[in-house]
Amino acid sequence: MSLAGRKILLIVSGGIAAYKALELVRLLRAENVNVHAVLTRAGEKFISSLSLQALTESPVSTDLFSLDEESRMGHIALSRSADLLVVAPATANLLAKMAGGLADDLASTLLLATDKQVLVAPAMNVRMWLHPATRANLVSLTGRGVHVVGPDEGPMACNEYGPGRLAEPPAIVEAIRSLLGAGPLAGRRALVTSGPTHEPIDPVRYIANRSSGRQGHAIAAALAGLGARVTLVSGPVALPDPPGLTVRHVETAAEMLAACRAALPADIAVCAAAVADWRVAEEAGHKIKKEAGAAPPTLSLVPNPDILATLAAPGPARPRLVIGFAAETDDLRAHAEAKRRRKNCDWILANNVAAGSGVMGGEENEVLLVSEASVETWPRLPKEEVARRLAQRIAAVFAS
Ligand code: CTP
Repeated sequence: MSLAGRKILLIVSGGIAAYKALELVRLLRAENVNVHAVLTRAGEKFISSLSLQALTESPVSTDLFSLDEESRMGHIALSRSADLLVVAPATANLLAKMAGGLADDLASTLLLATDKQVLVAPAMNVRMWLHPATRANLVSLTGRGVHVVGPDEGPMACNEYGPGRLAEPPAIVEAIRSLLGAGPLAGRRALVTSGPTHEPIDPVRYIANRSSGRQGHAIAAALAGLGARVTLVSGPVALPDPPGLTVRHVETAAEMLAACRAALPADIAVCAAAVADWRVAEEAGHKIKKEAGAAPPTLSLVPNPDILATLAAPGPARPRLVIGFAAETDDLRAHAEAKRRRKNCDWILANNVAAGSGVMGGEENEVLLVSEASVETWPRLPKEEVARRLAQRIAAVFAS
């Protein structure tokens, strides 16, 4: 679905990433979105209002007390006439002002006066992003329904590395599309599992694996980015909840299955979780102690339910498209094809998790997409890119 004719009020605050706002405007204008830009005083230090004006093909607002601007369109009207307010880049300072409800310039006043949804794309130094003050502001803002896209992780202009880079403009456009309900998966429901499961041995010990949840979380975010209503069922991970979707936190495979069942019906299910295949038959109710001279304890294991196979089993509750992963260390294609048939899923993304591949817990993935009709080899890509490609492929199924 197109964004043509939608109205966006774009607030550009001051940061080195402000130049990327120009690319964002270019992408939006290419889709015939009407963009009205507001440039903060600090933003003006990084890009000119003339550039913004040329690209938006509309006057740029900068001043709260401009009589001329106020006579053309009052700032309250400005904050209400848009379909969505987008802050890109959103500095730590502007986020703090939003969290505190300050209105000491045009940008913060518009953000306080609006009755529309707000999407922020934070960009700042990694320490500022990780500072407890910024974390608390984000919790407060997201709790009030403000949507967040990014920041990305990577090298920064200040020569540091970490989260804090402005999300790439195409990702911001996708977030806008999703918020405006205009993506190709609008109206579709998706269920995604992600991360490891923890299977308790006793109150302090558990069986786990190296899954980071990065691939599953990225898929959930990419599907939401195309407009799907996504429930992400996540095992224990160190990742933040992606904004704009429903997240269910679980520990064990049994809890994951129950959360998946509760999220049905769904049109799409993607099982990216590295579910423990076995759990301890009987979890000890107390910490197992070392007894002097005694043999180490023997753990007796029982199989866990197979969530993917359960979701993919024929029946009225089966999502139209069920996708699994196959983590293999050898004979990738043959194992993946056999697994797809055995679990009755439509597609399998097979990845090589052999020691040295760097895939499990890493940032990149190299997959085969196995369907009944074909096997495709994808190049080694960042997990976010694998997620975007997969989401596009899923959208193509629902477009046909
Ligand atoms: N899966 C699941 N529930 C389980 C085990 C696996 O939903 N109890 C899903 C995973 O999310 C993944 C797919 O099944 O999408 C494949 O998991 P994998 O561990 O690679 O395969 P297994 O079924 O465990 O087979 P094997 O141990 O023979 O490799």
